Amino acid sequence: MQLLEISLEYRVIVGISAMVLLFTGFLIVFVVSQRKKLQYHKDLNALNEEKRQTLTQQNVLLEQRVEERTTELMFQKNELQKSLHELSRAQLLLIQKEKMASLGELTAGIAHEIQNPLNFVNNFADVTIELVNELCEELRNNDPEEAMAAADDIRQNLEKIIQHGKRADSIVKGMLEHSRVDTGQKELTDINKLAAESLRLSYNGFCAKDTTFSASRETAFDEHIDQIPIVPQALKRVLFNLFNNAFYAIQQKKQKLGEDYKPFVSVATKKDGDNVLIIVTDNGIGISPNILQKIFQPFFTTKAAGEGTGLGLSISYDIIKSHEGHIKVESVEGEGASFVITLPGQI
Ligand SMILES: Nc1ncnc2c1ncn2[C@@H]1O[C@H](COP(=O)(O)OP(=O)(O)OP(=O)(O)O)[C@@H](O)[C@H]1O
Ligand SMILES: [Mg+2]
Repeated sequence: MQLLEISLEYRVIVGISAMVLLFTGFLIVFVVSQRKKLQYHKDLNALNEEKRQTLTQQNVLLEQRVEERTTELMFQKNELQKSLHELSRAQLLLIQKEKMASLGELTAGIAHEIQNPLNFVNNFADVTIELVNELCEELRNNDPEEAMAAADDIRQNLEKIIQHGKRADSIVKGMLEHSRVDTGQKELTDINKLAAESLRLSYNGFCAKDTTFSASRETAFDEHIDQIPIVPQALKRVLFNLFNNAFYAIQQKKQKLGEDYKPFVSVATKKDGDNVLIIVTDNGIGISPNILQKIFQPFFTTKAAGEGTGLGLSISYDIIKSHEGHIKVESVEGEGASFVITLPGQI
């Protein structure tokens, strides 16, 4: 029984000691783990701090780089602006130069062209004065027959003077049209309607001058073309010139070939990306390759004296250029010609 009691005491002591030991063990483990945690947080903080410092450094570096790049870009922008300014100045100079060149060409042409009818006018006027003296003489001599003959010569001379005077007049008018090329406001215009109108106007003009004149007219208008920014009167003049040339070319061919020949003039419009094309085609006499390069020059004409000034295409060329477009020609001699105008469809 005593052994049992001792043993119970002993057990209690041992139990308590074990518990104390266990508790101490736990405590130690807890403290160690807390320490480790603390160390971990410290390390983490140190790492974060390090990272923060690196980030700040990187930020400073980045800001510096951005600043450098901005300065560089500003410099490049200024340089670009400068070259743009220089380019537009050079462009202006070039336009001016080209204008002066065409003005020089024009002036030389004008001098040459006007000189011709002027010589006729002067010569016929001189001869007419002599004829008037002759007429007076015959009247004094009471010779009505001779007087009538002199009067007839005077009339013929005066008709010649009028004819050449009119030629000089049309040259001057043509010149003035040249100088008016730049004037006029651009308006959004229905190019199909304008082309149809010009075609009708030109055809009616030919029919009025020559009642036997007839030609089939074909139109192929692209209905999807929006209104385009042009000076309507100027473009009308261009198309009118082209149609007049086309009708003249078929008239010439008809005189050669007679009834078997079926003349036609056609006009087509087409969208070509942002541009609009106007194509005027005829099956007239065509243009020989050796004059093809000259037809846009002022005063170049193959028409008989007094029939044309040779300014139609040169004015048309200037008008199309002032619209920032271009005009080109294709032709097979004896078969016809085709003029293609390209105009920007937007401002
Ligand atoms: N469709 C065409 N077919 C054949 N030749 C042409 C055609 N269009 C122009 N030409 C040639 O180009 C020349 C110059 O044409 P341009 O319109 O400038 O003057 P012109 O017609 O001779 O005179 P104007 O226009 O003053 O009546 C013409 O004389 C002609 O030789
Ligand atoms: Mg012409």
